[in-house]
Amino acid sequence: MKILGIETSCDETSAAVLEIKNGNFDLLSQVVLSQEKIHAKFGGIVPEVAARKQMEMIIPVIEQALKKAKTNLKKIDALAVTYGPGLITSLTVGVETAKTLAKVLNKKLIPVNHLAGHLLVNHLTNQKIKYPALGLIVSGGHTFLVLIKNESNYQIIGETQDDAVGEAFDKVAKILGLGYPGGSIISKRAEKGEAGKHKLPRPMILQQNLDFSFSGLKTAVLYLVHPVPSAARAKQGQVKESRELQTKNKQGVYNMCAEFQQACVDVLVSKTLRAIKKYSIKSFLLGGGVAANAELRKQLQQKISKKYPDIKIFIPELKFTGDNAAMIAVAGYFKLKNKQYLVKDKIDSLTANPNLRL
Ligand code: KG4
Ligand code: ZN
Repeated sequence: MKILGIETSCDETSAAVLEIKNGNFDLLSQVVLSQEKIHAKFGGIVPEVAARKQMEMIIPVIEQALKKAKTNLKKIDALAVTYGPGLITSLTVGVETAKTLAKVLNKKLIPVNHLAGHLLVNHLTNQKIKYPALGLIVSGGHTFLVLIKNESNYQIIGETQDDAVGEAFDKVAKILGLGYPGGSIISKRAEKGEAGKHKLPRPMILQQNLDFSFSGLKTAVLYLVHPVPSAARAKQGQVKESRELQTKNKQGVYNMCAEFQQACVDVLVSKTLRAIKKYSIKSFLLGGGVAANAELRKQLQQKISKKYPDIKIFIPELKFTGDNAAMIAVAGYFKLKNKQYLVKDKIDSLTANPNLRL
C-alpha cells in the first residue's frame, strides 16, 4: 500500500510517498521546500507570503515526490494531509489540494494532526515502539509533554504557559541581532560559547508540575543585553547595580547563546525526567523542529538512559525534525488502520483547523 503525505502547516511545502508492506514502512521519497530565505528578509514568517508561495509550489512538489518514488497518482492508495494546527492560509493550501486530488482520483483522504505526525515519525526507525510512551514535542508553536497510550490515544500532561521553546530561540536570536531562523543560528553560536558565564533562570524547574514557561527567559536575555538604567531596575526591585554585560563582543554573544540553550535544555530534561517518574512508560519519543538541537538530543539521551536504562529512546533523524510530509504519511497510516478517513461525498466536509489540539 502507498500513501502520499502532504504538509503545508507553516512555511514548508512538503510531499512524501510512503510504502507499507506487512506493517513495515519504506519511505520511497520526501521533498521539502523551505521558505527560510524568503522570510529571513522579514525577520519572521509572513503568513500571506508563505501561503502564496505554497500555492505556486504544491503541485510541483507533489510531482517531484511521485517521480522520486517512481510512481504516479493512480498507484497511490490514500492521501494524508495536515489539517491543523498551523497557519490557516497555509493549511488551506494543502487541505484543498488533497481534497481535489482525492475526489478527482476517487482515493481515500486521511486528515492528520500535525503534532501527532511529529511524534509518530519515530516509527520510521527499525526498532519497534512499545506503548505506553512519553512524547516531548518541541517546536516553533508548541511545547508539550504527552502520554501516548497507543498511536491514536494522547493525553497532554504538561505544556508551556506562554511561549513555545522554538519561539523563544527565534526571539532571543532577534534580541541578539542574529537574524532568522533563530534555533539553528543560536545552536551554532552556542558551540563556541560557554554556559554559566551569563546567568539565566531555569523557569518553573522547581515546580512539581510538568508545565513550562519560556517567555521570562527571553526577557531575562533582553535585560542582560539592554540593561534598564539602574534606578529603574532598583525601583522594580530587580538588581541594585546595573551591570553592562559583555554581549556586544563576539565571545559574549556565544556565551549568551550557550547559556540560553542550556537553560532551555535543563528545564526540558528536568520535566521529562519528572514525567517518566510519575508515569510508567516503555518508550520516549522526541519530536518537532527544536529536536534538531544537538545539545537537547545528547542530554536527553544521556540523562534518560542513565536513570531509566529500560526505556527505549526515539529521537528522529534531522530530516524528520522540522516540518515534513513523511511524518504526515506515517500518522496517516495509523488513522487509516483505524478507518478514520474520508471518501467520496464526505471529502468536502474537511476544513483546516488552525487551533486543532492533540
Ligand atoms: O516543527 P517546526 O519545524 O515548525 C513548527 O511546527 O513550529 O519547528 C520550528 C522551530 C523554530 O522555532 C526553529 O527556530 C526551531 O524549530 N529550531 C531549533 C533548531 N532548529 C530549528 N531550535 C533549536 N535548535 C535547533 N538546532
Ligand atoms: Zn511542526
